[in-house]
Amino acid sequence: MSSNRDSPDTVLVVDFGGQYCHLIARRVRDNGVYSEIVPSDITPAELDRMRAESNVKGIILSGGPSSIYENGAPRLDERIISSGVPVLGICYGHQLLASMLGGNVVQAKTKEYGSALATVKKRSGVLAGMSDKEDVWMSHGDTVLSVPEEMEVMAVTDNCPVAAFGHKSMPVFGVQWHPEVVHTRNGDLIFKSFLFDVCKCRRMWDASRTVPKYIEEIREFICESRAIMALSGGVDSSTAAVLASRAIGNRLTAVFVDNGLMREDEAQSIKGMAERLGVSLVFVDAGAKFLGELKGVTDPEQKRKIIGREFIRSFEQEAKRLGADYLIQGTIYPDRIESGHSKKSSVIKTHHNVGGLPTGIKFKGIVEPLKDLYKDEVRKVAISLGIPQDMVYRQPFPGPGLAVRVIGDVTEEKLAILRKADAIVTAVLSRSDFKDRLWQYFAVFPGIRSTGVKGDSRAYGYVITIRAVESREAMTASFAEIDWNVLRRISTMITNQIPEVVRVTYDITDKPPGTIEWE
Ligand code: XMP
Repeated sequence: MSSNRDSPDTVLVVDFGGQYCHLIARRVRDNGVYSEIVPSDITPAELDRMRAESNVKGIILSGGPSSIYENGAPRLDERIISSGVPVLGICYGHQLLASMLGGNVVQAKTKEYGSALATVKKRSGVLAGMSDKEDVWMSHGDTVLSVPEEMEVMAVTDNCPVAAFGHKSMPVFGVQWHPEVVHTRNGDLIFKSFLFDVCKCRRMWDASRTVPKYIEEIREFICESRAIMALSGGVDSSTAAVLASRAIGNRLTAVFVDNGLMREDEAQSIKGMAERLGVSLVFVDAGAKFLGELKGVTDPEQKRKIIGREFIRSFEQEAKRLGADYLIQGTIYPDRIESGHSKKSSVIKTHHNVGGLPTGIKFKGIVEPLKDLYKDEVRKVAISLGIPQDMVYRQPFPGPGLAVRVIGDVTEEKLAILRKADAIVTAVLSRSDFKDRLWQYFAVFPGIRSTGVKGDSRAYGYVITIRAVESREAMTASFAEIDWNVLRRISTMITNQIPEVVRVTYDITDKPPGTIEWE
């Protein structure tokens, strides 16, 4: 079968609905190999078509929430496994491969979740270069108990007699653990072995090299029309704005909607940013409208939906005024994932600019030039476009703003307290020598009151929580191990400077099981 020699070597990631499916794609791209996510019902004919169009060198089967014994559990066409393209199954993919190839897979009574120690028995194929003992991260219900003669057991753990296997005559491997999450210490080595030793991929993919294509696509889509850009000041929308302005020049107007849920001085700094990006900006003051719509609403998903709806309504109004038919957004891959973009994954939270959008949008089209990229890929694109460093590495700030950091109903009073606390957290941590390690740091208003003592008398006031996390791409995160003295300084400043606050706590939850934002 012929394949397109000019397109980058590609590895397909078959999506069985696991939240980490996209992290797998991310790891592949990190290694300079393009990856694309395909649904599990992909047919051999579709695979043949993809192979004819691009250099498909390997297939990775993702994990997923199902048990292979469940009614309606996703399967894979057997011809795809025997097509000669190397296959690596991860977690659910591992179990499915084992069972399709004649192995014995059983439903476990309890799910195994967390760190485990794998004993590596065969250090070749995808396990080349591994140590005898490897720290791995597991999250599974079913377990592979045995595999037939044609397959060999490559690793075991206390609970998994077949934690990794390889086929003796086909380039087919399975690992029960998740090499894509950072908690698996040598996970990247597994990807490298699979990509370069098993699949013989060449390093050809680099997001920044695709810039001319993104610009051309925007230009073709919008033609001679006008467009508005939803600018938030974050790296995603700033990058999309620069791409769009290179594509359509002054037919682009950036619109910043102040939803009243911004941090201290934020709205002001956006104006300066737009100037530095060289895009013309319209500033919409919609705070009263947003807060009015949010009044008394406590359900997090409901809040997100309202904010998504109000954003789009504000953009529609501005578009009408400016004669623009198209809306450009800085949506990136993870926004789509967690909003339940994949058929088989569950909705974690509705990102305001994806699942939060109302139906019946009055735009001819919505353009999302970065929708297939991850944050660090967007940053590479931003650098190649010459966007200033401080904007490239600005902390992510969620579109729904402080509304997802005020638990319960959102009021002006709570927002004012949170803004002050957040400014303190930001001021102290941004001057710390470990700030570059942190992905995000901010204050949360948990919406509870507690008893305290201030000036020798009883005080009954609010609680503020500090959240600081380390992460590579926000799909997983660890709470940051901040020096106690720094935390104490923040705590003292908050309780001294904000009379309404009597207690400060530190959030020590990783993602998973928590998420980075509280709502
Ligand atoms: P979670 O809370 O899901 O957040 O762990 C992952 C990353 O996404 C940011 N976030 C959002 N960004 N719109 C956005 O543009 C949203 O609705 C939204 N919700 C969360 C969050 O700050 C973190 O960086």
